[in-house]
Amino acid sequence: MTRRLSVIGLGKLGVPMAVLFAHKGFSVIGVDVHSALIESLNRKQCPIYEPGVPELLESLRGTLTATDDYKYAIQNSEVSFIVVPTPSEENGGFATKYVEAAAERIAGNLKHKDDFHLIVLTSTVLPGATASLKDLLERISGKECGVDFGLCYSPEFIALGSVLQGLTNPDLVLIGESDPKSGEMLSQVYRHVCQNTPPIVRTNFCNAELAKILLNAYVTMKISFANIMAEMCEKIPGGDVNAVSHILGLDSRIGRKYLSGGLGFGGPCFPRDNRAVACSAQSLGMADRLARATDEVNRDQNARIVGVIKEKLGRLKGSAIAILGLTYKAQTDVVEESAAVEIAKILLGEGCRVSVYDPAGMDNARSTLGDGVKYASSAEECLRDTEFCLLATPWEEFKTLRAEAFTKNMKRPALLDCWRIFDRSEFSERLEYLAIGLSSSHNSR
Ligand SMILES: NC(=O)c1ccc[n+]([C@@H]2O[C@H](COP(=O)([O-])OP(=O)(O)OC[C@H]3O[C@@H](n4cnc5c(N)ncnc54)[C@H](O)[C@@H]3O)[C@@H](O)[C@H]2O)c1
Repeated sequence: MTRRLSVIGLGKLGVPMAVLFAHKGFSVIGVDVHSALIESLNRKQCPIYEPGVPELLESLRGTLTATDDYKYAIQNSEVSFIVVPTPSEENGGFATKYVEAAAERIAGNLKHKDDFHLIVLTSTVLPGATASLKDLLERISGKECGVDFGLCYSPEFIALGSVLQGLTNPDLVLIGESDPKSGEMLSQVYRHVCQNTPPIVRTNFCNAELAKILLNAYVTMKISFANIMAEMCEKIPGGDVNAVSHILGLDSRIGRKYLSGGLGFGGPCFPRDNRAVACSAQSLGMADRLARATDEVNRDQNARIVGVIKEKLGRLKGSAIAILGLTYKAQTDVVEESAAVEIAKILLGEGCRVSVYDPAGMDNARSTLGDGVKYASSAEECLRDTEFCLLATPWEEFKTLRAEAFTKNMKRPALLDCWRIFDRSEFSERLEYLAIGLSSSHNSR
C-alpha cells in the first residue's frame, strides 16, 4: 500500500488535501513556490480559509512537511498530486503553464528515480491536456508512461466551505488512467481517505476531462434555470420559489440541490468551467448555445437585482445601500466573480454610496472594490443610515439578525433578501421586505 504522497500546489484545494492525507496516516510532502505558504504550514498555521482545516492541521503529529524542493518531494514520495492553478484564458480555455512548470520539475527528478512513481493531475484542464502532459513527462524524464511511471487525471468535485466533507464523502471518485496499475494505486489511496464507499469510476483521460467540466456546466445550467424560475415566481401573485423548487426537487429526475433560486453563481470554478465548456464546444465546431445561455442568464441576474433596487428607491444616484455578504457563498473568504461584488461595482458606477460587511471576505473584497465603499465591522454598522439593504450571502451570522437591526439602523428600512433567510411575515410587518423568488402579493393558498 502506498504510504508516501506529495501534493504540489498548496492553495485552496492543495492545503486541505495535504492536511487530510496526513490526518489519514499518509506521510505527506507539500510543495509550493511561495516561501510564506511553506513556512506557515511548517509552523502548523493554516494559510487558507477553509472550515475544519486549521484544527486538523494543528492536531497533526509530524506527517506533513512543506518545501519548495521538488527533488526531495519526488525522491520521498510514491504519488504526486498536481494541484496548481489553471487560470482562464481570453477564449474561455484553461492555461496549463503552471501545470507544465510543475510537470517539468517532476519529470526532471523522475530521471534519477528507479522506482515507479504515480503523477496525479488534480487541476482542472480541458480535454486533451492530460495526453499532452504525458508527452511532456516522457520527453523530459526519458521514461515510459505506464511502465516507469503512471499518470492519472483525477479532478475533485469539492465545494469551498465544505472541502473536507467533499474529500471524505464524495458522490463519486473519477480517475482517468494511463494504465490499470496506476488507476489501482490511486483507487487504494482514495479508499483509505473516503469515509463513505463512493463509486470509483476508472476511464481514459478524455472521458475524465470531459466529465469534470460538463458536470460543473450542468450544475450551473441548473442554477440559471432556478434563477429564471425565481423571477417567474416573483411576477405571479402568490408565486413562491421555495414551494415550486420543493415540488420540482421531489422528482428524482431533477433533485433538490442547486434549485433554490437566488443570486447568480460565482467563485473560482463554476463560471469558468461553464465558459470552458463553451470554448471546447466551439473548438469542436459545435454550437455552444447552452453554456453561453447559462452564462448570459447568470450575468443578467446582477443587472436584474440592480433594477429591483432602482425601482424600489425610484433612483440610484446618491442613494445609500448596504450589502450584507460579499463572498460568492457562505463559509469561504473567496470573492472571485461573486455576484455581491459585481452588484456593488454596478451600484458604485451608478453613483450610489455603498457600505459592505462580510464575516470572512472583507480583506479579499478590499482588493477588488478599493476605497470607493465603506467597510463596516459589523452587520449593524453596515446598515447604519442606509435606505436599502441587499442580503447577498446567506451566512449563519445574518440569519440571527432581527427586524429591529434594520429598523433601528436604517434611514428608510427596505430589504431585498436574496436567499429568503428571514421570516417573511415578521419582517414584512416591520419594514419593506422583498425577496428573490417571492411575489410581492403573497397568498399562501
Ligand atoms: N478551489 C476550488 O474550489 C477547486 C475545486 C475543484 C478544482 N479546482 C482546481 O484545482 C486547481 C487549484 O485550485 P486552487 O483553488 O487550489 O488554486 P490556488 O490558486 O488557491 O492555489 C494554487 C497553488 O499552487 C501554487 N503553485 C503555482 N505554481 C506552482 C508550481 N509550479 N509548483 C508548485 N506550486 C505552484 C501557488 O503558489 C498556489 O499556492 C485549479 O486547477 C482549480 O481549477 C479548484
